[in-house]
Amino acid sequence: MAETTGITIRRPDDWHLHLRDGDMLRAVLPFTARQFARAIVMPNLAPPVTTAAAAEAYRQRIADALPPGASFTPLMTCYLTDDADADEIVDGHAAGIFTAVKLYPAGATTNSANGVTDMDNVLGVLERIQEAGIPLLVHGETTDPDVDIFHREAVFIDRTLAPLLERFPGLKVVFEHITTSDAVDFVLAAGDTLAATVTAHHLMINRNALFEGGLNPHMYCLPVAKREPHRLALRKAVVSGVAKFFLGTDSAPHALSAKEAACGCAGIFSAPSAVEHYAQVFDEEGALDQFEAFASLNGPMFYGLAANDETITLKKTGGSVPGDVSVEGGVAVKPFLAGQPLTWALVD
Ligand code: NCD
Ligand code: ZN
Repeated sequence: MAETTGITIRRPDDWHLHLRDGDMLRAVLPFTARQFARAIVMPNLAPPVTTAAAAEAYRQRIADALPPGASFTPLMTCYLTDDADADEIVDGHAAGIFTAVKLYPAGATTNSANGVTDMDNVLGVLERIQEAGIPLLVHGETTDPDVDIFHREAVFIDRTLAPLLERFPGLKVVFEHITTSDAVDFVLAAGDTLAATVTAHHLMINRNALFEGGLNPHMYCLPVAKREPHRLALRKAVVSGVAKFFLGTDSAPHALSAKEAACGCAGIFSAPSAVEHYAQVFDEEGALDQFEAFASLNGPMFYGLAANDETITLKKTGGSVPGDVSVEGGVAVKPFLAGQPLTWALVD
């Protein structure tokens, strides 16, 4: 069979993205808007986005930061806190401002301090968002400091996610940025109310990447990359054709100085070449025929939205990931695999 050298698919969406705010937002947004029609925008700003008014204002700042001529729709999320107001969320959703609600277990990751400390505190709110059909997006890691960091996702499934699905059988849940075969198996065994996003980096690296040639903070994110068998399980899941898996980059930019520090923060900035990275994975798996479903169809279907009508084309001409991206104010951000060769290139 002749090698595939080009592929055209419906324009994809990014179902998990950190855009930040201000200068950083202006620096990173063009990369996403070039590739994706829509993105689910994470609410973990400081302070977090917890009201419809704050989400609407943030959406406007994103719109204002778009390059001229770009067509990109941010889908806003509400950061769930212990004292969340169900009316605020349900009304904000009915008004078309909130697409989903984000659950961060308090302390699990970057800017999650205001997250949920105990699921019992939000049962009433979950009841209401289940009733209203609003998806709950879950950062699936236990925050128990006694649990090994590489096991926090698996333990979260047993302690929190499984009981949550049992208690709220009608609640639409996205298990975000899954990193383990345990998560893949759990999603496959669960009902249709549960789906999962998978990042490009978790399909491309295993935990060795954190330590190759010395401690590399640019390979550090949460959930942290796991062992090779887990990466292989993720690759198998995304090319399987099962509609419960879809694209979510979790691109999470941090200033170089915040990454290359004594206590470097978690987050991998994969936005600049995200769609090319995913294409490479599907190509390596001999599954380019499954790429469109994962990138452009399964997500909208889960969210009850139409797939995009426009298309994008990728060609196997090669290219490279950009080097450090500069941000107004003298800050820089390093992309995932900065400067490294790419096998696929998005054609403008
Ligand atoms: C994210 C961030 O920096 O906001 N970091 C990360 O490592 N993924 C938060 C998150 O999604 O966990
Ligand atoms: Zn994230």
